[in-house]
Amino acid sequence: MNITIIGTGFVGVVSAAVYASFGNNVIGLDIDPKKINSLKLGKVPFFEPKLEDLLIQQQNSKNLTFTTSYEKAIADAQIVIIAVGTPSLPSGAVDLTYIKQACEDLAPHLKENTIVVIKSTVPPGIFKEIKPIIASKTKVNFYLAALPEFLKEGTAVDDTLNPDRIVIGAIEETVINQLTKLHQPFNAPIVTVKPESAQMIKYTANAYLATRITFINQIADLCEHNGADINDVIEGIGYDKRIGHHYWYPGLGYGGSCFPKDVNELASYAKKVKEDKNLVITIGKLNEQRIPKLLNKYSSLIGGWKNKTIGILGISFKPNTNDTREAPALKIIPELLNKGSIVNAFDPKAIWSPSNNSNYTQAKTAKEAINKADCIMVLVEWPEFINYKFPKVEKPTLFIDTRNLFEAEKLSSLGYTYQGIGR
Ligand code: UDX
Repeated sequence: MNITIIGTGFVGVVSAAVYASFGNNVIGLDIDPKKINSLKLGKVPFFEPKLEDLLIQQQNSKNLTFTTSYEKAIADAQIVIIAVGTPSLPSGAVDLTYIKQACEDLAPHLKENTIVVIKSTVPPGIFKEIKPIIASKTKVNFYLAALPEFLKEGTAVDDTLNPDRIVIGAIEETVINQLTKLHQPFNAPIVTVKPESAQMIKYTANAYLATRITFINQIADLCEHNGADINDVIEGIGYDKRIGHHYWYPGLGYGGSCFPKDVNELASYAKKVKEDKNLVITIGKLNEQRIPKLLNKYSSLIGGWKNKTIGILGISFKPNTNDTREAPALKIIPELLNKGSIVNAFDPKAIWSPSNNSNYTQAKTAKEAINKADCIMVLVEWPEFINYKFPKVEKPTLFIDTRNLFEAEKLSSLGYTYQGIGR
């Protein structure tokens, strides 16, 4: 099939490479010539395992090309997939500027009966706004469909190649048939529903997972008052088949480019439709309060942050990515610097620094980051940190393990004061 993907951000590039790998003719379109030139060379502007190899392979096999020209990209497309960004507005509501712009720009080049698919995360009901925008700029018949994305950063290629399910939101039979045919090779269950349901499925999945994480964080906080260990609790509840052992790890709250944004958007939608007591509103608030609450507690354990040297391990929002969006480090480091700490941070892939602060260094190694630290904070479960041989310390050193990766006894025997989450 001839497929054009508009927007070569994270979702757009991964989807383009994967659809191409199933033998489709894929064109990736972006208005940014720099991005397109670098993609043509097989380079992506972020770290994602397996992606560059697949990109190069598919471009070599001529299944995948990139362009900045709407005219070239849309003219022969049977399916146009919009995967542009949908950032949040300050109110928490979704900003549809890029989606609307893409619709305006693609419309004049559409051929008869093209399917325009929205992959970006958008609120239910959006097609009522988008349809007239396209219709005002074309005379041909076109269809709209929703195709939400469920990939995770760090495993995006594998998630897209082997999805748990494909969700198609469409009404017309011809659209359902073509999108089903496109996704047959993925060998995954295909859920075909109306567009509003597809869009709610996306928000519900993310809101549920965010709720699950918030819930276990709350239980972890209770464990700290009574000597229970949250890991034991997770093991014990997980054998109940309705609950399970996975995706329950407590920590500093959820971060990344999706959960905080999607939960806030759903909360904003709930308020808009006057569901003011909806649980998602509370989930978003609890997550925002989590890091300040824990920092307060850690501050009292170390006797205040002023003049303390803090070694931070992990700047990305999770392992196997260099994405720092809503990463704990970006909330914690500025706060520590404000309170007068000296901060040395290390991450295997992510690079970040606050502007103009001589008390901050991004270290080149984990060893350099934790050297002479009064407090070590492990923020991300990078394999490098899990396997790291922490040295014996002579001076009092607080060891904050925000992912519960280490044994308290072992670290205590090396001289550290260990602090995990909910244990
Ligand atoms: C998420 C969804 O998983 C994915 O389906 C959706 O398409 C996009 O959003 P992603 O943001 O890449 O994917 O990361 P994920 O691995 O789900 O983690 C999200 C956040 O939750 C991270 O901050 C992570 O540290 C945190 N998390 C995850 C926990 O705190 N505990 C867990 O048990 C799992």
